[in-house]
Amino acid sequence: MPADTNANGDIFGGWLLSQMDVGGGVFASKLAKSRTVTVAIDAMNFRKAVYVGDLVSVHANLVRVGRTSITVHLEAWVLRRREQQSILVTDGNFTYVSIDDQGRPQPIQRDGATIST
Ligand SMILES: CC(C)(COP(=O)(O)OP(=O)(O)OC[C@H]1O[C@@H](n2cnc3c(N)ncnc32)[C@H](O)[C@@H]1OP(=O)(O)O)[C@@H](O)C(=O)NCCC(=O)NCCS
Repeated sequence: MPADTNANGDIFGGWLLSQMDVGGGVFASKLAKSRTVTVAIDAMNFRKAVYVGDLVSVHANLVRVGRTSITVHLEAWVLRRREQQSILVTDGNFTYVSIDDQGRPQPIQRDGATIST
């Protein structure tokens, strides 16, 4: 949307990052079956600009489950108006920590089984 643009008139990178963080947080919380917080964002690549009117999708792939943390590789793809094929615009590794009601890290329950996503 136009309200999400930077001084160049393209979509602000911080907006895109926040959408990826929200998507990754949902993924991590479902996996951990708890609240999670973002502790780190690594290896971010902003490969292409995002324009007003682009349709943005965020895809998540599990990288690692630690004792209290989950690392997810997130990719943002866009479908531009009048185009048929989505392109990869941004990717990075987001790490989330499972927290208890006091906001302290808590171990991720594995249920003795493979975690499914
Ligand atoms: C996330 C938070 C609860 C972690 O608390 P902490 O006391 O530092 O916890 P720990 O040192 O035990 O680390 C917890 C896990 O995070 C991982 N971690 C900590 N810092 C990390 C980093 N920079 N990169 C990757 N993983 C990290 C640890 O390896 C550990 O994972 P593991 O248990 O799977 O091995 C605390 O730092 C916090 O509340 N941060 C603010 C979160 C927030 O507000 N996020 C939104 C920012 S806009």
